[in-house]
Amino acid sequence: MDVLPTTRHDKTGEPFTMRQYTADDRGALEAFYNDFHPKRAAQGMPPGGRPTGGALAQHHPAAWKQLIAERGCMPIGHSMLMPMRDARVVEYAIYVHQDFRGRGVGTEMNRVAVEVARAGGLARVWLSVEPGNRAAVRSYEKAGFRFRPGTILSLEAEMVIDLEPGPANRTGDTG
Ligand SMILES: CC(C)(COP(=O)(O)OP(=O)(O)OC[C@H]1O[C@@H](n2cnc3c(N)ncnc32)[C@H](O)[C@@H]1OP(=O)(O)O)[C@@H](O)C(=O)NCCC(=O)NCCS
Repeated sequence: MDVLPTTRHDKTGEPFTMRQYTADDRGALEAFYNDFHPKRAAQGMPPGGRPTGGALAQHHPAAWKQLIAERGCMPIGHSMLMPMRDARVVEYAIYVHQDFRGRGVGTEMNRVAVEVARAGGLARVWLSVEPGNRAAVRSYEKAGFRFRPGTILSLEAEMVIDLEPGPANRTGDTG
């Protein structure tokens, strides 16, 4: 059964929808990132300053899957699963609009992304995160991600969720 579209609820019981990004979403997504705060939220994504169409285009076509979270017709979150060297592994990134943070939306978006990856037959979802980004780390942990040993003290710690037993999980490669 397809994971998307799906309706989820934040901690207050308010519903939001998650679905696959389409080309028609481009304008709304640019508006989402133009309004996004802080601009330099994570690893330079979304791009610092006003993201241009070109800057967005650099990121988005690389994504294996892009998911939009929306309330009504308004995007409140965006997440990406991006290919890595190992075809069974994807890198994950997530952005929740500042007006909707702290309500469980990010955690639920993470869970949906993991379900999408699992349904797509992937072995692992990998991400890097600044350990001081407590909201991100907590939301990842609640969705089942775990720190890769030896990276937790790095400026960019690595977290993974293994979806099935397989070679990617035996080698510890990030892809
Ligand atoms: C990171 C992000 C996606 C999280 O989304 P969110 O909807 O705010 O997260 P949630 O509400 O689902 O969960 C956040 C959890 O972190 C906790 N948290 C928030 N701030 C915290 C802090 N400073 N210290 C410890 N825990 C914190 C919350 O209490 C919550 O845990 P709980 O449900 O057990 O109470 C969102 O904050 C965001 O878009 N930030 C900017 C972009 C970014 O940093 N992306 C991640 C790149 S690696």
